[in-house]
Amino acid sequence: MSAVWPSNAAGTVAARSVPDPQIAVLDAGGQYCHLIARKVRELGVYAEVLPSETPTERLRGKKGVIISGGPSSVYEPGSPTVDPALFSEPVPVLGICYGLQLMAHLLGGTVERGQKGEYGLAFLELRDPTDPLFRDLPVRQQIWMSHRDTVTKPPAGFRVVASTPACEVAAMSAPERKWFGVQFHPEVAHTIYGREILSHFVLEVCGCHRDWDPRRRLPFLEESIRRTVGARNVFFFTSGGVDSSVAFALCLKTLGPDRVRGIFVDTGLMREGETDFVRALGPVLQTGVLEIVDARQRFLSALAGVRDPEQKRRIIGEEFVRIQQEIIESHGFLDEEWILGQGTIYPDTIESGGTEKASVIKTHHNRVPGIQRLIEAGRVVEPLASFYKDEVRQLGRELGLPEALVERHPFPGPGLAIRCLCAASEAALERCDEGWLLPLRSVGVQGDSRTYARVLVLDQYPAPEANLQAAATELINRLHGVNRIVAVAAKSAPLEAMRVFASALSEERVELLRRADAIVRALTAASGFDRQVWQFPVILIPVGVPGRPESVVLRPVHSVDGMTAQSVNMPTELLDEIARELLALDPVCAIFYDLTHKPPATIEWE
Ligand code: XMP
Repeated sequence: MSAVWPSNAAGTVAARSVPDPQIAVLDAGGQYCHLIARKVRELGVYAEVLPSETPTERLRGKKGVIISGGPSSVYEPGSPTVDPALFSEPVPVLGICYGLQLMAHLLGGTVERGQKGEYGLAFLELRDPTDPLFRDLPVRQQIWMSHRDTVTKPPAGFRVVASTPACEVAAMSAPERKWFGVQFHPEVAHTIYGREILSHFVLEVCGCHRDWDPRRRLPFLEESIRRTVGARNVFFFTSGGVDSSVAFALCLKTLGPDRVRGIFVDTGLMREGETDFVRALGPVLQTGVLEIVDARQRFLSALAGVRDPEQKRRIIGEEFVRIQQEIIESHGFLDEEWILGQGTIYPDTIESGGTEKASVIKTHHNRVPGIQRLIEAGRVVEPLASFYKDEVRQLGRELGLPEALVERHPFPGPGLAIRCLCAASEAALERCDEGWLLPLRSVGVQGDSRTYARVLVLDQYPAPEANLQAAATELINRLHGVNRIVAVAAKSAPLEAMRVFASALSEERVELLRRADAIVRALTAASGFDRQVWQFPVILIPVGVPGRPESVVLRPVHSVDGMTAQSVNMPTELLDEIARELLALDPVCAIFYDLTHKPPATIEWE
């Protein structure tokens, strides 16, 4: 994976068009490492991510260093480490999660495997409210935890600053050395005072000055596009989503319509009305050259009989590359005059293991081998690869793009294929103390690693006042082999009669999902609920009774950037209305409601 790291187009370009970073975030493999850098940037301080083992001399001149979380255990051979010379320098250091454990380990403390994991919301009790990191903050505060290993003895010179009921050393510090460590994640939105904690470190302990505002990046971005593209032209495979549209619009603005071409490949895996939406984008983006290529049958044939999520992604990615190759040849993009433009954003590269130590959660279609080769050959421009979704939206607004485009919910590249679950064989639901275990697996992320585990169904959709999501988190921490929990919103048969049916991806199933998704989209738009959530995947699962072998899962989530997410309660009337309409679809047996946060589940089911 190391090839991605330094050769990432936007990475190298950004290095030339941004200030010298005041803060270095050392990447110990956590999916949150870029989120930390971004949160620091949100404070107005430019930060960059570097490999954890970066030699200390390369960190000279930085005002502070943050060591990120990661999926490893400090005692595992080959686990990420930092140059020990770091601790001979006067530079302030903050360790987060694995970063805290690594500091403890390298400086003479003890780290041990916990009895059980601590994933999700927790409450922190400050022992020393005067500590520089927590100054003026409440003695009890909500934080976000995602760990199994724990520091059991801080190194000499450190004192314990805060604890949770499950974790004694939730924060430790040696303020005279300006060394701090937190077991929780101040960079995620669920840690209520995370911003203040990071701000205390960055602005007060490190003494950084404000030098960063993403809204002022447009001229730098244009300059970097010009430099990357040179005298060549750019062709885009646009998806109609925010990222590829903003990247496309940026290149159009920079290079002019004669040098930028946009092609939309209709995979047959898009939502209802998507091709028309894209067709209407041409005039909005002030370009006539938006071409639509119908590849519906090709994708369906390539996916026939496929069940495994990673295989689906691989097949879709490869088919995309094949079609791209054909278009490239037939359009004369092959010669050196043309390069590929992509709307890849930061989380896309992170979750595909885009940094050296990140374990792969999901393979992103912008990072399949064919594209990888183009990237290595310097024939890809990804102007947004350092930006997060909300920053891309800010840029879209700066470019004058309409709100209807800028505010679109994200939609995954592999489209409805990864929302249409399949099963190899028929199996009954299994009764357990907590509910029913579905013999179906979905993707999750626990302690920075990918999981592929079973789904637990709760019998009823409990009363809205119950804190379902908290109960779901607690259940998953307790149950082995389960990473997702759903409740029944409506059903036309009892759970004991339901089964999972052998099923594959087919045109009929994708069409049924498209219909279900369109119903949900129409009703949520009419009620305004769509503006209250970040994304609302609708998933088809092969669960039901003979004659009605399908069910639909609703997954509305709050998120800031897709890195973490919260399951959202829906108004009961809207839920009832949606359930009624979905149950009226012929083969639909039940409607489920996904109660799981990310982590431990991911937003998509696959
Ligand atoms: P997960 O499911 O990983 O999703 O929590 C996080 C965000 O990424 C989107 N997503 C994808 N987008 N190609 C994409 O372009 C993919 O393969 C892919 N997988 C997930 C997802 O919709 C959510 O917004």
